[in-house]
Amino acid sequence: MTQKIVILGIFVADAAYRAERLPRLGETILGQHFMLGPGGKGSNQSVAAARAGGDVHIITRLGRDAFADMARDLWRGAGVTPEVTEDPESYTGSAFIFLEAATGQNAIIVAQGAAARISVADVEARRALIESAGIFVTQLEQPLDAAEHGLRLARAAGVRTILNPAPAAALSDGLLGLCDLITPNESEAEGLTGVSVSSLADAEAAADRLMQRGVGAAIITLGAKGVLYRKDGQSLHVPARAPGPVVDTTGAGDAFNGGLAVALAEGASMEQALRFGTAVAGISVTRHGAASAMPTRAEVEALLRGA
Ligand code: RIB
Repeated sequence: MTQKIVILGIFVADAAYRAERLPRLGETILGQHFMLGPGGKGSNQSVAAARAGGDVHIITRLGRDAFADMARDLWRGAGVTPEVTEDPESYTGSAFIFLEAATGQNAIIVAQGAAARISVADVEARRALIESAGIFVTQLEQPLDAAEHGLRLARAAGVRTILNPAPAAALSDGLLGLCDLITPNESEAEGLTGVSVSSLADAEAAADRLMQRGVGAAIITLGAKGVLYRKDGQSLHVPARAPGPVVDTTGAGDAFNGGLAVALAEGASMEQALRFGTAVAGISVTRHGAASAMPTRAEVEALLRGA
């Protein structure tokens, strides 16, 4: 039986521009492609988890506008249950996404809109839902006090907590101590530990430092090098696995987190969960967009079977 996954996070509409390079200040350049689609780390993770077979609820805040309709249509299609605070005094946010044409790498500016007003009270209003979950996941795009309150409620109820500490922010040891698992990328890990991460040994050192700061275990995501799990001096490394050329890495970390949560909710071992999350991420980077790139369960299983 699969456990319920509750995700606290934001939805924004991604306005993605593919170009050779970023313009300099005062300069206009011509791009190669534009795409408007669903984004926001919490929403992306919810969609990844639901398409991969999870029972997923998202706690968030939206305006009352066309981008909010985009969010609701997306979740309806993916099977995500929305737990939304409607905020007619604000707007549903958007992200500017620059995609480097040659590599598929990105640079992002997020304006959260209504989601910047996600409050401790919004989270408290979903206390019963959080307490009924098997896994609680959050990130750092909404206010930190709301994320901390969600982690605290989940921890007190014995719900497994996962923090994807993105975008990078300074975090207290008190907050880190509420995390059973933390999933930073290289630069987020460096920001939290002071350890510059460019090799597996660096990732192990950063993970050990995160455990000294209070987390239960760490998964450092390493882009094309895969992921490194570390707990109590033991490591597991799972290489990245893309079934085709990489065209867009936007949301790859979200795909991994969503897949990881589903596998853990189903009772998989950590190694199986890392492989499952890596497969979800591997497929997502071969497609354009963030939430739109998340694969179905059948696609993930086919990749894991080597089909
Ligand atoms: O993790 C990728 C996401 O970060 C994008 O979809 C963008 O909306 C930003 O929130």
